[in-house]
Amino acid sequence: DAPETVTPTGAPTGADKTLKSQQGEFLTTAQGARLRDTDHSLKAGPRGPILLQDHHFREKITHFDHERIPERVVHARGAGAHGVFTGYGTATDLTRAGFLAKGKETQVFVRFSTVLGSRGSADTVRDTRGFATKFYTDEGTFDLVGNNIPVFFIQDAIKFPDIIHAGKPHPDREIPQAQSAHDTFWDFVSLHTEAQHHTIWNMSDRGIPRSYRTMEGFGVHTFRLINEAGETVLAKFHWKPKLGVHSLDWEEAQIASGVDPDFHRRDLYDAIESGAFPEWELGLQVFPDTPEETFAGIDLLDPTKIVPEELAPVQRVGKLVLNRVPTNYFAETEQVAFHLGHLPPGIDVTNDPLLQGRLFSYVDTQLTRLGGPNYSQIPINRPHCPVNDMLRDGFHQHAVHGGVAPYRPNSLDGGNPSTTDTGFLDIPVRVAESTKVRENPVSFDDHYSQVRQFWLSMSPVEKEHIIRAYTFELAKCYEQAIKERQVQCLANIDPVLCEQVATGLGLPVPSPTVEFVEVEPSPALSQVTGEWPAD
Ligand code: HEM
Repeated sequence: DAPETVTPTGAPTGADKTLKSQQGEFLTTAQGARLRDTDHSLKAGPRGPILLQDHHFREKITHFDHERIPERVVHARGAGAHGVFTGYGTATDLTRAGFLAKGKETQVFVRFSTVLGSRGSADTVRDTRGFATKFYTDEGTFDLVGNNIPVFFIQDAIKFPDIIHAGKPHPDREIPQAQSAHDTFWDFVSLHTEAQHHTIWNMSDRGIPRSYRTMEGFGVHTFRLINEAGETVLAKFHWKPKLGVHSLDWEEAQIASGVDPDFHRRDLYDAIESGAFPEWELGLQVFPDTPEETFAGIDLLDPTKIVPEELAPVQRVGKLVLNRVPTNYFAETEQVAFHLGHLPPGIDVTNDPLLQGRLFSYVDTQLTRLGGPNYSQIPINRPHCPVNDMLRDGFHQHAVHGGVAPYRPNSLDGGNPSTTDTGFLDIPVRVAESTKVRENPVSFDDHYSQVRQFWLSMSPVEKEHIIRAYTFELAKCYEQAIKERQVQCLANIDPVLCEQVATGLGLPVPSPTVEFVEVEPSPALSQVTGEWPAD
């Protein structure tokens, strides 16, 4: 029963084992009429047909028939948990966002996920992992909708349907690719070479995490922060796991997906229920807000690029502790709706073309997935602060709005002017005077140097795992031309990587078609244990 599971502020109570919803003395219909029998339908005699007038039968079966909602088009398989975020106060000179203030506690809900598999797929497949956090702040909900990999496959959201179509099960056989990537995935990433950076992270040990508790999280995009004085900086969000970063070996992952397809969600819930609460620190990489929006020559609007941590250290700004498992999977983990536009005052978006497209996509899909425009009223999605949105009516409206004047200002219901100086401020950034075009900036053109930097940053055993992963996955392709095209991409990353994979596949070793840019290994990238400063 929704009212029993929700605190007066709308905050979900988490896994409350004392809740015995609908275990009262009597079973009733949805209208509250007591029932004597729920095991026999009303029939024309013991051997006769069921009567249409059996309302209880029809109500029970009809509701069951409609229990399923569409699974997410991506990130369908997930596991959620409640927790608390505590600010350190170290970001107050960067952003006015109140939840980062020293000692401030904010309730959160986190949903971890794989990207490509269906709701019932295995946890330990080679794939990117989602790491989405809903902060129920006093100033409105903040959603940090990130992944465990700091870069994305594509630079422009218009290609999202294409990369997902290429990565999802083959349309003809419905054989999933996450486990053993086949032709369409490799076709896409070898033709859209900006995907090579994300792909090498997938082929590395980061593609098969040991546990959700041992994953980093990344907001990927660059955001813009504004402080009380109106000063702005550009920033990237990072989650650092207290347990450090650990992965499964490929054989372990294969065995786990057969023996225990729920390996990661079981690990998460067992840890929380035994009191070993998973912890992360939230960190920021901070860059000056210059008109070029670059740092150390890296375009901060290009989501296929990182900024190495030795160039911009991650500044720790708060701590997340997950301490409660959901009470009900459907109500919470399935119905939660994240969105990049859910921002509190002090945090704003940038013009990263991937981020801009995401701002459209999530609401659009949730309108279908959650059955209309009122999904913010579902308990897990309700803000933990007063809501006065003047939104009215629509499918699944649960609020009974009083008054007659749902607009502001008004002179009938005592409505005040709609502006306050404490509300969300759209940072008044200059929008370039430019010409309408369908093209990327030239600074997005380098698709290989950071991939090479990632490769050079790996330890020998990590390199061996990467070679094995490319060789194994590419061997699953039926089309020789696709394998060869991807091996050509590897030649543009590193000669050793290319030679080893090509030999494993029995293919000739091609020469690079791009000039190598001089890059230094990044020590932060090969770090397999987390740094966790003393409390
Ligand atoms: C879902 C991350 C790019 C469309 C998700 C989820 C995560 C995520 C974590 C799962 C949320 C949950 O647990 O409910 C990311 C990251 C991206 C990215 C880090 C790139 C940096 C995109 C792009 C699009 C997109 C470019 C479309 C243009 C979607 C959609 C969902 C989703 C439609 C399902 C949402 C729902 O049904 O509630 N994404 N995503 N994503 N993403 Fe993304």
